[in-house]
Amino acid sequence: MLTGNQINLTFPQQIKLTAQRMTKYLREISREDPYKLCFVCLGNICRSPTAEGIFIHKVKEAGLEQYFYIDSAGTAAYHVGEGANSKSQATANKHGVHLPSRARRFEYTDLEEFDLILAMDSENFRNLKQLDRKGLYNSKIKMMRDFDPNPGDGEVPDPYYGGLQGFENVFTILERSCEALLRELSPYIKD
Ligand code: 4NP
Repeated sequence: MLTGNQINLTFPQQIKLTAQRMTKYLREISREDPYKLCFVCLGNICRSPTAEGIFIHKVKEAGLEQYFYIDSAGTAAYHVGEGANSKSQATANKHGVHLPSRARRFEYTDLEEFDLILAMDSENFRNLKQLDRKGLYNSKIKMMRDFDPNPGDGEVPDPYYGGLQGFENVFTILERSCEALLRELSPYIKD
């Protein structure tokens, strides 16, 4: 594959090419071809199920259910088959959000299947990139907090070993990020 460096593009051409690569996950969204999102963390019981539940909630609130397919997965298999962590559920429920997930492990075929794959932290991101050995799906693997208007250190911190305050913090980060993500995708919805 040719890259900007190899074909000796001018500086503005290189910027345009880079911008195209960065936005390749954006496409026209229709009821016939819903946009597919997969939120990914380590165990798929705390952070990614919370992101999934919040995004479902926001999509329903906006009346856009038919335009999205929303899922989550973990890079590890420790908790496969389990529902969301009880503290994640309690926190989400307090905010009126239901978490419907059953933990599953992220698989190679998911790289092809989804339009946008959102890693909660840089370890999840690295694991996803390792699965995408040839870099075929580079442009659709993103950090969740790339979409956060207040991105902090860029990570959604793992709340698993801590108290309820950590789960509340995760909820706040994910609600803000999901809101911004839906705002970015909405203009691509076509009837
Ligand atoms: P999650 O949190 O990746 O947000 O689901 C964790 C869940 C389980 C473990 C670690 C993090 N664990 O080590 O079992």
